[in-house]
Amino acid sequence: MARIPLIVGNWKMHMTLEETTRFCVSLKQGLAGDPRTSSLVKSGALELAVAPPFISLAASAEALRGSSICVTGQDVFWADTGAYTGEISSLMLRDAGCRFALAGHSERRQYFQETDEEVNRKAAALLRTGLSPIVCVGETLSERQGGAAFQVIEQQVRAGLKGLAMKSPQDLVIAYEPVWAIGTGQTATPEQAEEAQAFIRKLLEEMLPSFAPEMRILYGGSVKPDNISKLMAMPDVDGGLVGGASLDSGSFLEIARGACPRS
Ligand code: 13P
Repeated sequence: MARIPLIVGNWKMHMTLEETTRFCVSLKQGLAGDPRTSSLVKSGALELAVAPPFISLAASAEALRGSSICVTGQDVFWADTGAYTGEISSLMLRDAGCRFALAGHSERRQYFQETDEEVNRKAAALLRTGLSPIVCVGETLSERQGGAAFQVIEQQVRAGLKGLAMKSPQDLVIAYEPVWAIGTGQTATPEQAEEAQAFIRKLLEEMLPSFAPEMRILYGGSVKPDNISKLMAMPDVDGGLVGGASLDSGSFLEIARGACPRS
């Protein structure tokens, strides 16, 4: 089975509730005005998702109802319930209407010292609740310049996916986000993205042989309307995790268009 392209807009810490609703309404309208993209989304041949801040998840799910556009958490805590002040569980994400959640975004690793072990526990919690984790991996500039990029990616993939109980290849998504390309405008070249993502696919073939060919690997890092098609043309790039360019519904829709499978 072919891998269905997936475009996820990671809003990070942007947008108020009012802006969220406005964005969702405008995205729905924009999609309705684009019959080709809209029919691909409706038929499940192209998946779109937005990842607003936690407090806007329920409102965005409500505003996107009936559109087939999914809602995604930006993070999750690894326990299902308990005395963990300030945290949000996978059950709560599901309750708010989420289908996916990110685990181990590089900003969580960098600013909140998230470890591979925590990422692994978060992914396990999501799978337990029926949500699909989007496990983020990627090297920093100094790791790349020091020749350690593939070692870092391998460590993050192996530790992040260790012992996870997946039932199908669609249960989990990997996002390769080289830290040096995030928010810098310096996108990895399609060849650089492919090199890393083909490497990830090889690791998956070893770790999860029956699932690997059908698992999706997204690229993230300065994805824009004008570079998505070239990235998507690479055999192991199955979609995009988009930050800045996903904050405008028009630009997000253009990226979605650029990711449409060729008919
Ligand atoms: P930018 O698209 O702003 O580079 O962000 C990428 C990212 O971190 C998405 O998760």
